[in-house]
Amino acid sequence: MDFKALTAHAKEYGFIYQSSEIYDGLAAAYDYGPNGVLLKNNLKEYWWRSMVQLHDNIVGIDAAIFMHPKTWKASGHVDAFNDPLIDNKDSQKRYRADVLVEDYIDKVEGKLNKEIAKAQKRFGEAFDETEYRRTNANVLRYQGQMDDAAGKLATAMTDGNMEALRQLIEDLDISEPDTGSKNWTEVRQFNLMFSTQLGNIAGEEGKLYLRPETAQGIFVNFTNVRNTTRQKLPFGIAQIGKAFRNEIVARQFIFRMREFEQMEMQFFIQPGTQQEWYEKWKEARLKWHLALHPQEKLRFHDHDNLAHYADAAVDIQFEFPFGFKELEGIHSRTDFDLTAHQELSGKKLQYFDPEREESYVPYVVETSIGADRLFLAALTHALREEQVPGQDDPKNTRTVLALHPAIAPIKAAIMPLKRNNDELVSLAKRIFDDLRFHFEVQYDDTGSIGKLYRRQDAVGTPFCITVDFDSLDDNTVTVRDRDTLEQVRVRVEDLVGMIGPKVDMVSLLRSAQ
Ligand code: GAP
Repeated sequence: MDFKALTAHAKEYGFIYQSSEIYDGLAAAYDYGPNGVLLKNNLKEYWWRSMVQLHDNIVGIDAAIFMHPKTWKASGHVDAFNDPLIDNKDSQKRYRADVLVEDYIDKVEGKLNKEIAKAQKRFGEAFDETEYRRTNANVLRYQGQMDDAAGKLATAMTDGNMEALRQLIEDLDISEPDTGSKNWTEVRQFNLMFSTQLGNIAGEEGKLYLRPETAQGIFVNFTNVRNTTRQKLPFGIAQIGKAFRNEIVARQFIFRMREFEQMEMQFFIQPGTQQEWYEKWKEARLKWHLALHPQEKLRFHDHDNLAHYADAAVDIQFEFPFGFKELEGIHSRTDFDLTAHQELSGKKLQYFDPEREESYVPYVVETSIGADRLFLAALTHALREEQVPGQDDPKNTRTVLALHPAIAPIKAAIMPLKRNNDELVSLAKRIFDDLRFHFEVQYDDTGSIGKLYRRQDAVGTPFCITVDFDSLDDNTVTVRDRDTLEQVRVRVEDLVGMIGPKVDMVSLLRSAQ
């Protein structure tokens, strides 16, 4: 399904609305509707339970969004949390200079992939892609252009060299995507933090920031959590919460927002063990994603230029409709943050290691994923237009949201075969009133059964329960499976036992272990 149709579907079926739409909306801010909030809560629950509930050595916190302003000085965000900004003088539009170069690289990669697809078609079975990539002149030229641009971009970003970045845009002959204009301004650094003012304290002193990452709420609570939990190294602290970034360009729906939600875990370790833990968390996090999405949709991507706090960093990328993009980051943050907070606050942030009999500032490996990006990944992967299973006519199609049942917003819908029959309605409502204690269910009698089925398919409900005239005699109902459309007769008292284990999180959590 194309991206425009997906955003329209998300609105129509109560997943995501534009923020303050009645005032023509606010760019890069979105509201979650009745189905969206259920799906998002399920995704957060999946993360929380696999990180906190299933790890003896990971505990959770929920820190305030506002933090002492010194936090952001120590963390480096005041000085270094910048994106390179460039304006086009003709169109008056603003861009991220690094993204313009990345888009150029994506374009060349598209040409390279086309070349390979063409050859694949030409040579059929005999096609050897590795050999073709090694020898074909066009492919080598494209690969060279990509590597050269990526290398120069990484150097300019790591050095903070905005002139070099401007030069690169000129050398690559990059034009404004909408108008083709190459009339660019200089590139300048733009700090991404939103600020606000505390109470009645004017000026710099009362300046507060909306946190741009949840991680710092964890670092400043390191000693508090250690003292209360008596955790020994290695141990982790996890948190889910809002973060805010004044993104220069906010495109692609909920992929890049100015207000979003992060799920972050800081894992505190002995210095010198960071490589080992970095590798372990990389594997663990990929496995967690694989329980929801297929291998071909996911890949690792090492960072070319490292953030100011990291000595190693990798993204888990997901194949969104606009290409492979970052879904989660895994960062080896060394002792950067704790040391910086220790220095600026004057408070010791150390761990006494009973085995080594010494105190030190722990190192940290962080896993950080955006709940909204995970939501978009789930939606884009699951939403499809398909031929109705079991039907031969290709014109007989349906829209289905084939979410994993454990994250589906509604687990079962209960519907009477006829809405004007009191007995059917009464039994259906009784079933609904019982099932709602066990999992999220919906009662619906607002249309024909066929129409109701289609509506539930479109929001991803794994089971539809229909109460018909036989139900009144033998206390059985029809249960329809969203994916296969198979229908089975089930006794009313067996519904919880049959549906419950298929829609709870246990099997999903187990397969992520
Ligand atoms: N504490 C580390 C950190 O914040 P990051 O790579 O900047 O690292 C982590 O962000 C994750 O947060 C990203 O992988 C992404 O899923 C999510 N994220 C970052 N910026 C976002 C934005 N503007 N909108 C939505 N999600 C975002």
